Amino acid sequence: MCGIVAYVGDKQAAPIIIKGLKRLEYRGYDSAGIALLNGKLNVYKKQGKVADLEQVLDGKTLNSTIGIGHTRWATHGEPNDVNAHPHYSGSKNLALIHNGIIENYESLKKELISRGHTFDSDTDSEVLIHLIEDIRDNNDCTLGRAVRLAMQQVIGAYAIVVMDKDAPSQLIAARKGSPLVIGVGKGEFFLASDATPIIEYTNEVVYLDDYEIAVINEGELEVKSHKDVPKTPYIQTLEMELESIEKGGYEHFMLKEIFEQSRSIGDCLRGRIYPKDALIKLGGLRKHGNTIANANRIIIVACGTSWHAGLVAEYIFEELARIPVEVEYASEFRYRNPIINEGDVVFAISQSGETADTLAALELAKKKGAHIYGVCNVVGSSIARLTDAGVYTHAGPEIGVASTKAFTAQVTVLTLIALMIAKKRNSLSDEAIKELSRELESVPEKVAIALENAAEIEKISAVYKDAKNFLYLGRGYNFPVALEGALKLKEISYIHAEGYPAAEMKHGPIALIDEEMPVVVIATRDSSYDKVVSNIQEVKARKGKIIAVVTKGDALIPSMADHVIEVPDTHPVLMPLVSVIPLQFLSYYIAVMRGCNVDQPRNLAKSVTVE
Ligand code: M6R
Repeated sequence: MCGIVAYVGDKQAAPIIIKGLKRLEYRGYDSAGIALLNGKLNVYKKQGKVADLEQVLDGKTLNSTIGIGHTRWATHGEPNDVNAHPHYSGSKNLALIHNGIIENYESLKKELISRGHTFDSDTDSEVLIHLIEDIRDNNDCTLGRAVRLAMQQVIGAYAIVVMDKDAPSQLIAARKGSPLVIGVGKGEFFLASDATPIIEYTNEVVYLDDYEIAVINEGELEVKSHKDVPKTPYIQTLEMELESIEKGGYEHFMLKEIFEQSRSIGDCLRGRIYPKDALIKLGGLRKHGNTIANANRIIIVACGTSWHAGLVAEYIFEELARIPVEVEYASEFRYRNPIINEGDVVFAISQSGETADTLAALELAKKKGAHIYGVCNVVGSSIARLTDAGVYTHAGPEIGVASTKAFTAQVTVLTLIALMIAKKRNSLSDEAIKELSRELESVPEKVAIALENAAEIEKISAVYKDAKNFLYLGRGYNFPVALEGALKLKEISYIHAEGYPAAEMKHGPIALIDEEMPVVVIATRDSSYDKVVSNIQEVKARKGKIIAVVTKGDALIPSMADHVIEVPDTHPVLMPLVSVIPLQFLSYYIAVMRGCNVDQPRNLAKSVTVE
């Protein structure tokens, strides 16, 4: 939530920062701003998109080789020009951008007001820059020290960057709980919430850790702990390609990411699966296989789509590895004093690796003595770094707010983990592991076939684009897929949708069904197929409209359903990887036809870094 970008070097800062903000716009898009040093410390900000900010900048002299920029997802204070970042200090000599939430901002603000400070905005963030200036003025110290002392008083989460009118080559950054990456170029530095604004200029990066403060001055980077202990910055080389964060000819990132899934699942499997030897190699878990296999139970914590992937994993782990699994919304888990016993294993699933609730749930589990592991997409993310070990999904950057390729990559990784544990626990024969592994290897090809349905699903979407409600039904492995389909539709097209286990329909939701109600049924061939067919008949008897996702060659359901979308057959355990594809397309096309902003749906942000 909120994207921050900063630059200092010998190039013009404004174009770098504006381009970076556009790349980060998926993190927040209700207002944007930039501060540049051009004799004066000038702050320009505007409610709306980065494009609206560009209009404000149009025709202005922006000559500055240092600057900070921000794209906002409002928490404290409504989205407007004043609440947009950067925020000035009282003297207007300092400016700050902030991502996170300052929980004790009211008490800090009261104290600062009593000392004569006045505030322009309703934000928690403005308090920080007043606090920093107050400390600097009253202690006659450097800005770096003032930031450090200020952050010691702050409760909450932050990634901040501060610039000073009188220090044209200095940026100061600090982090706790919100991500911050520093790109190290030749005599220049880039700071951002993730690597996407940086990668075009350098692939050498330093991930700032919690409670660290970075001072960049005169081309030098110095990192210290908030207790003033010097740290040696660890420079990593990123493998991300520029084209992976661009639309590549697609109208939206979401569409591009849907189409990438055959490739991304393949990337996720590469080098990890050896069907001939019934072998699964997950480098990240190499030393932890026995701990997981010997666990009394596995708890999965996640949010949103990642939680749906966790639900699929519950079914897979229990079926293949015969370990009890509980799947928890991270936000509930952390606040309900959960029982965690020695030997429990907790997996966090997160595309971004930055989701605040998931991170906090993991911290709690760690404190209670659990072994904690991660399934993350973003390399170097907070969850990836907090966990004992984990597996990256290698889906590549996911920019569309609606998660698509991350879901299929998560399910793929979780299947690999389940197979690895099944082998260690002898809960599956080598023959069964070989068969499932071979089938898993064929999934990218099957997904490619499912992707060929795009045009047909576009036509179905045109029929239902004005529906007020949707119901999604599935059983077994397809139940989490129903939840995922409903979430996709809700978040990008703003149509109310609910996902249900198909058999639960008659315990309530059936009352909603009439001729106005489209019901998406995921009815692929598995052990509950006949039961799902009965559920379809129950819907038809009440004049509901059926959009059925069926296994290729199904001869029965087409005679009952209003629309049929075929997907290739695969093992039921792997079916979510294929059956989710039509639902992603359906939500995408309906949203486009309703004129919605698919990649940046209202009120949402890609990484939910506040609780
Ligand atoms: O980055 P994470 O996987 O931790 O994000 C979790 C959810 O915020 C995310 O899946 C959200 O529900 C998506 N917008 C769904 O498309």
